[in-house]
Amino acid sequence: MTHRAALLQKIESHTVTVGVIGLGYVGVPLVLAFAEKGIGVLGFDIDARKIVALNEGRSYIPQFASERIQAINRAKRFTATNDFGRLRDCDAILICVPTPLTHTRDPDLSYVASTTEQIRSNLRPGQLVVLESTTYPGTTDELVRGILEKSGLLCGRDFFLAFSPEREDPGNKAYTTATTPKVVGGCDQDAGDVAEALYAQIIGKVVRVSSAAVAEAAKITENVFRAVNIALVNELKIVYERMGVDVWEVLDVAATKPFGFMRFNPGPGLGGHCIPLDPFYLSWKAREYGVDTHFVELAGEVNRKMPAYVVERLQQGLNQRRKSVNGSRVLLLGMAYKKDVGDTRESPAFEIAQQLLALGAEINYHDPFVATLPDTRSWPGQPKLDSLPLTPQVLASQDAVVIVTDHTQVDYQSVQKHAQLIVDTRGVYRGAHTNVVKA
Ligand SMILES: NC(=O)c1ccc[n+]([C@@H]2O[C@H](COP(=O)([O-])OP(=O)(O)OC[C@H]3O[C@@H](n4cnc5c(N)ncnc54)[C@H](O)[C@@H]3O)[C@@H](O)[C@H]2O)c1
Repeated sequence: MTHRAALLQKIESHTVTVGVIGLGYVGVPLVLAFAEKGIGVLGFDIDARKIVALNEGRSYIPQFASERIQAINRAKRFTATNDFGRLRDCDAILICVPTPLTHTRDPDLSYVASTTEQIRSNLRPGQLVVLESTTYPGTTDELVRGILEKSGLLCGRDFFLAFSPEREDPGNKAYTTATTPKVVGGCDQDAGDVAEALYAQIIGKVVRVSSAAVAEAAKITENVFRAVNIALVNELKIVYERMGVDVWEVLDVAATKPFGFMRFNPGPGLGGHCIPLDPFYLSWKAREYGVDTHFVELAGEVNRKMPAYVVERLQQGLNQRRKSVNGSRVLLLGMAYKKDVGDTRESPAFEIAQQLLALGAEINYHDPFVATLPDTRSWPGQPKLDSLPLTPQVLASQDAVVIVTDHTQVDYQSVQKHAQLIVDTRGVYRGAHTNVVKA
């Protein structure tokens, strides 16, 4: 039997073993999707705490309940391990490791490269390897293939290689892993076929494309589209504010057009693992072809300035009250990068906090999803802060409250009633209010 036929048979009979490398926001939902369909999954990570947590049935991602992990453990469909030798036991290996930027804002593919090295040392004929991490077009066919073929096995003859971008949208209740169409592009026809068959077991609609590079480019395009459109409304927000026109009312009105307009909302700056970072993977790769990506660069420039704009609006609001930022107590409301999740990666709240600290403000915060500020790259060596309760006393004791993230469970009426000054970056308060400054 050919490798292709053998793998397809295992996939269709659900006897395939899937290895998921990188048990984070992308890896965990994939583990659940396969295991809950009755497919055996091995999860790999270098973070020993995650391995222990998952094997003990504890979820560390709030939107995935621990009970779901316990159920797949009980059914013996899932084991987490840091023994990468067990990659040999997998028929399909999905790579879900981070793809950040270096401090000079170039792609940092070291996680993908080191993971691929681990796979190379355990690669056996007939396996399928799929890269899920967001990256520039060409990564799968150049970097990943190059490393794997150092094993002596040949892509297309001995193993299958494909790219399939993750489209997780944490906190989105309308679309789950299973109901979000998944793009799949193989490095050759057979790889595309087996990868398509694998994902079809867990996802309602698989969108097959002609190559891994098209799939990589599609994912980057989705993220560039968001970054550019968010930058556009952020710029409009500043212009309209100077004109005395409320951008939120403008957007509500424009959105009544049933065609030719797609709504994006302004905000305090970009956050999360994807939108602030991924577009620069494209810019970097484009330079190799002698092409400039003006829209990407411009969007980055506009979006990166938004935290400073929020601080400027706070300064203006305090100034009207004869106060300076220096010595003021400022409560940041929402440290996560978006609504109703606890993910603080790249959150603009940290940049705003850093700028306020540099101006001499005293910083506090409230976030129902973030009990303590993590000591990350965004908050290095800063004092450990805990989320304050949003009591009337706490609110009244602050010189200003800056709404960075609009979590659903916050009582904004109470905030408005008790806060002296509110800087609203999310359009929580429509119309004019004496204690609200829009930013
Ligand atoms: N978070 C999202 O919503 C989202 C959405 C779409 C795409 N993506 C993309 O998916 C990829 C993963 O993102 P994420 O949000 O899941 O990241 P994450 O940080 O939540 O998880 C990555 C995991 O990989 C592990 N890891 C790092 N190096 C490893 C190695 N060498 N071997 C094994 N494990 C290793 C880390 O310990 C971590 O648990 C990124 O490329 C990201 O751009 C993320």
